[in-house]
Amino acid sequence: MNKTIFITGAAKRIGKEIALTFKELGWNIIIHYNSSKSDADNLADQINKDNPNSAKTVQGNLDVKEDVQKILNEVNDAFPSIDLLINNASTFYPTPIDEISEDHWEKLIGSNLKGPLFLIQGLKEKLKKSNGSIINITDTNLTKGVANYSIYSAAKAGLEAITKGLARELAPEIKVNAIAPGAMLEPPDVTWTEEQKNKVIETIPLKRMGSEKDIANAVKFLANSEYITGQTIKVDGGRSL
Ligand SMILES: NC(=O)c1ccc[n+]([C@@H]2O[C@H](COP(=O)([O-])OP(=O)(O)OC[C@H]3O[C@@H](n4cnc5c(N)ncnc54)[C@H](OP(=O)(O)O)[C@@H]3O)[C@@H](O)[C@H]2O)c1
Repeated sequence: MNKTIFITGAAKRIGKEIALTFKELGWNIIIHYNSSKSDADNLADQINKDNPNSAKTVQGNLDVKEDVQKILNEVNDAFPSIDLLINNASTFYPTPIDEISEDHWEKLIGSNLKGPLFLIQGLKEKLKKSNGSIINITDTNLTKGVANYSIYSAAKAGLEAITKGLARELAPEIKVNAIAPGAMLEPPDVTWTEEQKNKVIETIPLKRMGSEKDIANAVKFLANSEYITGQTIKVDGGRSL
């Protein structure tokens, strides 16, 4: 039986590349999206053209409890097993201390911490049955402290804490790890000037921005690893050194 990967926020960018990487491995792919319906449908069509009936889409806002339940129901019904859950979806924007509202808190915690936790809770029985894995996508920058991003950083730090706690709690059946990307892509809807890009590259020992493929390759590595749990792999070209 083919293995199944469920990726949140998979319609575009890093999530999409993870989906395409696992398509090459012949896995079933569950593509989650929130607002990017046409991108998600196009990706599913592209995958199903090469591997018929292997890709399905599920929609939902991870900030909303009822949506998380709907996602869980659809994911549980999509394929007989779940082997790999990738908590990739994320909201990312600055929240200077004087501008923080409860709405910012709900949005940044919802997509980056609360949603992932309840997805894990809802999928753990299936993941146990398949001796599966969970990979939480965090952020290498959070360990340094980043001005104006206190809620996002807290959410990602919380996700790393959950990674360690659940690695113990869900062992030995389920492995739980995190991947912390560095500077991979410009934030969605932002285009950096060459000067801005070069300024970032100067801070990276490997002297280039990362790519979607760098993260997808790390996911593939962890998916093949039988003896790693509770770890965060920094895929950041050495930026955090
Ligand atoms: N890009 C980087 O350089 C970088 C650096 C450090 C860490 N990371 C982490 O790597 C992961 C992927 O990065 P990325 O840049 O590819 O992500 P992204 O484009 O910023 O976001 C991925 C998807 O998350 C979904 N999403 C956002 N809020 C949601 C919500 N409330 N409910 C459900 N889905 C929601 C969106 O889906 P829809 O479009 O369908 O609405 C979006 O397409 C993220 O966890 C990010 O924090 C990325």
